Amino acid sequence: MTNLAVVGAQWGDEGKGKIVDLLAHRFSLVARFQGGPNAGHTVVFDGKSHALHHIPSGIFHDGVVSVVGPGSVMDPDRILGEIDGLIAQGVPVAERLRISSRVHVILPHHRTLDGAYESRLKGEAIGTTRRGIGPAYSAKMQRLGVRLADLADAERLEQTMAQALDCGLRDLLERLGEPVPEPSEIAALARGWWERLGPLCCDTSDLLHDALDAKRPILFEGAQGTLLDVDHGSYPFVTSSSTVAGGIPGGLGVPPRAVERVIGVVKAYLTRVGAGPFPTEETGAFGDQLRDAGNEYGTTTGRPRRCGFFDAVAARYAVRLNGLDALAVTKFDVLSGLDTVKIAVAYELDGERLTTPPACAHDLARVKPVYEVHPGWEAPSERPRRLEDLPESARRYLDRLTELCGCPLGLVSVGPDRTETIIPRGSLLEEYGCSAT
Ligand code: IMP
Repeated sequence: MTNLAVVGAQWGDEGKGKIVDLLAHRFSLVARFQGGPNAGHTVVFDGKSHALHHIPSGIFHDGVVSVVGPGSVMDPDRILGEIDGLIAQGVPVAERLRISSRVHVILPHHRTLDGAYESRLKGEAIGTTRRGIGPAYSAKMQRLGVRLADLADAERLEQTMAQALDCGLRDLLERLGEPVPEPSEIAALARGWWERLGPLCCDTSDLLHDALDAKRPILFEGAQGTLLDVDHGSYPFVTSSSTVAGGIPGGLGVPPRAVERVIGVVKAYLTRVGAGPFPTEETGAFGDQLRDAGNEYGTTTGRPRRCGFFDAVAARYAVRLNGLDALAVTKFDVLSGLDTVKIAVAYELDGERLTTPPACAHDLARVKPVYEVHPGWEAPSERPRRLEDLPESARRYLDRLTELCGCPLGLVSVGPDRTETIIPRGSLLEEYGCSAT
């Protein structure tokens, strides 16, 4: 079986956790290549909802090793909280989880800085999760960061922290009126973190290469979404990592050819949490209706998500950037019962018709979506198991959506549970043995 990547093709929260969970049992490893505790992946089974932030959604499967790769950033207290929650549910985390020795650590002052920047940006704030993601990635790029392996030697870490403070961190924190950490305080924290995280720490690239050599299949799990990518998203209203499939080789230390197939996850409509342009946003009663029907509140922060219609311009952009082989359409049930459903097929900006998103956020904020209007449909009386069980208008909507995106349909999710899933005959997900039961 070939290696597969699952990435978000919108602004995050597309339902990647469910798709990874459906597929994971077929793979030997599930690897996260970017992001950190800003992610919120929900997996529902046996009537219970499980929220994961740091740990890949493969963790619930016996015989599957979950990997947090060096392209991620890790908050030790948060990952330990997540580990404890999983252990309490009987998940053998020590057997199933491995964290890269090279992963960068989110330190308390990174969270402080995230909040301080957001407060100062005022009306222009990004609306980050305030989990310290941007500042931790900044420290990494400045080459003043701390990695998981560095926690093993608290004395050396104290020196590294002293250097980082001397190289401007102290001045910055003082100027912002924020507390300056003592290197010895960080070293003391490191000792406690290492005691618990050290046994899970290894060279995850080596682990992945062993799997590649032995032809044991790997599932690559993306976090956030393509439109939040630091290079290709709606900059500066983005996260600080490469969320696209192109981020996998760098984020995990595997060759590009290891990424053999890519599935993109899209909601049947569109949501965004945090600030930034959103051309198809519905700010009135209809947006509220979608939010209630789809329970659109952030898994990580609980913030209400902004809601709107499916944007085929943005989705087609994501299909091309990621080289998507199939689309997994989620939350399809949420659209039932509407009179009409719209899809944005192009944008208009200053009298010009655009078929890809403009580079500047202030232009994206000014575009007017060009809509196609489709008839709505009623919810099927029984849980649909096949595409044929969906009303005709619903099937037509899916056909048009995939046609506009230029990507075949791989899966339709009609509810949060593993069983509430339609796998079209002959689809890529069927090839991977993805089953709804
Ligand atoms: P950060 O990743 O916390 O720096 O936040 C930057 C932007 O990405 C904000 O608009 C967040 O709301 C958004 N974001 C970060 N993680 C997620 C996610 O997992 N789902 C949806 N949006 C996210």
